[in-house]
Amino acid sequence: MTTRNKSFSTRAIHHGYNPMDNEGALTPPLHLTSTFAFESAEAGGEMFAGERPGHIYSRISNPTLDLLEKRIAVLEGAEAGLALSSGMGAIAATLWTLLAPGDEVIVDKTLYGCTFAFMRHGLAKFGITVTHVDMTEPQNLATAISEKTRVVYFETPANPNMRLVDIAAVSKIAHARGATVVVDNTYATPYLTRPIELGADIVVHSATKYLGGHGDVVAGLLVGRAEQVSQIRLYGMKDMTGAVMAPFNAMLILRGLKTLALRMERHCANAQAVAAMLEGAAGVARVHYPGLRSFVQHELAARQMPGFGAMIAFELDGGIEAGRRLMNRLTLIGRAVSLGDAESLIQLPACLSHSSYTDEERAELGISDGLIRLSVGLEDVSDIIDDLAQALEGDPVRAAA
Ligand SMILES: Cc1ncc(COP(=O)(O)O)c(C=O)c1O
Repeated sequence: MTTRNKSFSTRAIHHGYNPMDNEGALTPPLHLTSTFAFESAEAGGEMFAGERPGHIYSRISNPTLDLLEKRIAVLEGAEAGLALSSGMGAIAATLWTLLAPGDEVIVDKTLYGCTFAFMRHGLAKFGITVTHVDMTEPQNLATAISEKTRVVYFETPANPNMRLVDIAAVSKIAHARGATVVVDNTYATPYLTRPIELGADIVVHSATKYLGGHGDVVAGLLVGRAEQVSQIRLYGMKDMTGAVMAPFNAMLILRGLKTLALRMERHCANAQAVAAMLEGAAGVARVHYPGLRSFVQHELAARQMPGFGAMIAFELDGGIEAGRRLMNRLTLIGRAVSLGDAESLIQLPACLSHSSYTDEERAELGISDGLIRLSVGLEDVSDIIDDLAQALEGDPVRAAA
């Protein structure tokens, strides 16, 4: 079913599937097959030559993945999508397709820990220059970009410190020098930000997070122009990484997408209330949440995001030790990495998700040791707030002060 002119949730539930094509089955079938039979040797040859459409082998394409790829593309406002085994698979397949030795990729200051490691140790190993630029000020990119720059890459909001990047302004600067703009949209999801509509070329996702939404799958997605996505499929995914998504995981993401809008509304409302509570709580030094008026980039957030997401970064007066004590006193909020699940999750990036940075790199790139990352879940918000309040109030240092 074509739903390009319908609104977000209708597309998330219906786009690309007509039950009448599958004996009325309301839920799309799960195509558990590694390979596909050809009608004839000639037909197989034509498919391999790209002269005839059809599926050949599930490391290249599969009908269940096909549907998911169409859905994420329509939700992001892109021509085409690609499903991969993980967010890191999507990032590696994209950058290995776009970059060659001698090229430069300019990245924002802060990146998710494994993305940072992939850039600094993975890409650099193959003769690619990785340059960090503070893109919260787009002019910094205009100064740093050169003929060597093939790709401009950033997260907005960035994991873990919530820095935002003005997608339209940065894309304009990058395009003036012929660079491809790649945005990691994991934190915002297409419900809150559609980078392609703002000028970006490729969007990557850890679908493990909000798109799946239930913490039961590791998966990646990307979208962009059809020709570019096809190149990433045939080089980055098929030949270089082999990072293909399993059909069963595609089913889980398709199910997650159906409730994405509903979940994001509740995630955002819960996070706004939790951020306000933390901001007013004794012992909390700083709260970084785009929906707070005190957030340094609140004006950009209000312009670029219709809702502010459900990730909060905050720092306690007592630094990392107070952070550890807080985490250990929580009884509802889970001590775990990952994010975007129904369950609220908390972690300390310096020792967990961003431990691939050295202490010096974290200091240089804006991730303080005491920063706490909270993924606000879908529980009743009063319970989340009560749990944080009792954990803060019970801190022995605070109680003694
Ligand atoms: C912003 C961001 N991008 C990419 C990734 C990598 O995704 P995955 O764990 O699905 O490989 C993560 C994982 O936490 C992330 O937070």
